[in-house]
Amino acid sequence: MKKKRIAIFASGNGSNAENIIRYFQKEDSEAEVVLVVSNRADAKVLQRAEALGIPAIVVPKKDFNNESFMTGLMRDNGVNLIVLAGFLLMIPDFLISLYPEKIVNIHPSLLPKFGGKGMYGNHVHEAVVAAGEKESGITIHFVNENCDGGRIIYQATTPVEPTDTPDDVAAKVHALEYLHFPRVIAETVKTLH
Ligand code: GRF
Repeated sequence: MKKKRIAIFASGNGSNAENIIRYFQKEDSEAEVVLVVSNRADAKVLQRAEALGIPAIVVPKKDFNNESFMTGLMRDNGVNLIVLAGFLLMIPDFLISLYPEKIVNIHPSLLPKFGGKGMYGNHVHEAVVAAGEKESGITIHFVNENCDGGRIIYQATTPVEPTDTPDDVAAKVHALEYLHFPRVIAETVKTLH
């Protein structure tokens, strides 16, 4: 069967993007990463993708929000599924309409807790520690027009100890991301038609 084609959007470091690319580079995988898009020219994800032989391009915000540009980019690359891995721009409505329940995001908390505007990266882990939470985790969900609001596909939890710093929580959450995100994407790919 023809492999499904994944585009990853990422704004920064890209350790999840790299992990996903490597996962789908295995021979018998059901999908392949065909493109990495970043809104930032200095994002490390661009080098990571290129080192693994995946085309990586910078798309500034203005172009990202341009319907004909983005629709063309996705169509020209035959993209079936979009994966957001640390992507900080809001997804425009035209892209959500073009890819209904075909855009997957990972959020580093147990949504609906610690989601919404301003809740990204270390802000999330700082808020979790400040609130004295006993656990945190990851949420993998579809993207709809509400920030962090689409249907949840999968969640995994990790304990937060009273002595944990935000960096400790971040490390635990990252470990969960590496363990589960590629597999959940692979399962989601199987439901695409
Ligand atoms: C991850 O924690 C992810 O959950 C969040 O942004 C972070 C990206 O890390 N959305 P990296 O760029 O994959 O290293």
